[in-house]
Amino acid sequence: MYKNITDFIKEIYSNRLPVPLHEPCFKGNEKKYLQECIDSTFVSYVGPFVSRFEQMICDYTGSKFAVAMANGTLALHLALVASGVRRDDEVLTQAMTFVATANAISQAGAQNIFLDSDLETLGMSPEKLSAFLKEETIIKKDGYAYNKKTGRRISACVPVHIFGHPLKIADIVKICSEYNIKVIEDAAESLGSWYRNKHTGTFGAAGILSFNGNKTITTGGGGMLVTDDADLAMRAKHLSTTAKIPHAWEFRHDEIGYNYRMPNVNAAIGCAQMENLEIFITQKRALADKYAEFFAKDGIEFFKEPEDCRSNYWLNTIILNNRAERDSFLEYANDQQVMARPGWCLMPNLPMYKNNECGNLSNAETLESKLVNIPSSVIC
Ligand SMILES: Cc1ncc(COP(=O)(O)O)c(C=O)c1O
Repeated sequence: MYKNITDFIKEIYSNRLPVPLHEPCFKGNEKKYLQECIDSTFVSYVGPFVSRFEQMICDYTGSKFAVAMANGTLALHLALVASGVRRDDEVLTQAMTFVATANAISQAGAQNIFLDSDLETLGMSPEKLSAFLKEETIIKKDGYAYNKKTGRRISACVPVHIFGHPLKIADIVKICSEYNIKVIEDAAESLGSWYRNKHTGTFGAAGILSFNGNKTITTGGGGMLVTDDADLAMRAKHLSTTAKIPHAWEFRHDEIGYNYRMPNVNAAIGCAQMENLEIFITQKRALADKYAEFFAKDGIEFFKEPEDCRSNYWLNTIILNNRAERDSFLEYANDQQVMARPGWCLMPNLPMYKNNECGNLSNAETLESKLVNIPSSVIC
């Protein structure tokens, strides 16, 4: 049975081995725009492609502001800082996410609290979030929610649109607003994914995108903070540019800042990639349809975009019957040079997060033990 699957995947990718999980596709103006950077000498943090790329992201996502950063992890770090997360606060996120989410929260000086996944969307479960906040928090006179056990303020919640699939973000935002908790969406994987016709990353106080080489579009390395809040955007931009006070020739910095801005060369690649985004998404959705049809015949569960969602299908996911089956499929596929991968090890199972508080993680544990991602690149 596994042979059927790997043969089908190899055929899709014209038997070019190894078949990567997700590789970038450069078939537009990438080289031309890079040449322009070199010819103009604007290769670093200043240059016209950075603002052009930011504008393209605003136009596409409908966000009012976009601030380009050197990667998605840094964008998340500054989204948290700029939205008011302070040292020793607590931040709610998911146990099932890429480690960068939890690391950015830690780097903002906050403690992660890991909550469960929703089986319909793979993202944060609104039910589990609501139960945690009802049982474990009190709202004090300052209007903030505090953890009854630790006495710490819970200032933010970072839900993650996993593998590109939109989560139930409207419910999450509604629940958090009742507790005065800011929502910062980790939309690193979900450029081109929409929930009820609104782009992922644009529901909360801020959202972040990643343009790592394995994402739907890439800038080599890169990230973007998106927000409708002018003050938050200005603060993030200021912090990301060493907190320099804009001036024609003077070097003055008014606080300890960061060197997080995206270089012009990376933004140049991003502009060229954005020009092809719709083509990529159309191809990725067609590939997902192909997989869905194939796995339906084979009786294997293929994860389909949830109700109210339009997904970019960044990674295509199958759900096998148990961990033993998952592992033997992974073993076989990788032997065949088909790069299938499991979901991430849950955050509280990593040594640095083993003592962090968690909710009940029954759904995340189920998903972690059965889920496999299969090759999903655009056929370039
Ligand atoms: C869910 C998630 N969050 C955050 C990141 C961090 O993005 P970057 O690799 O651009 O730092 C990634 C991707 O790598 C991711 O998949």
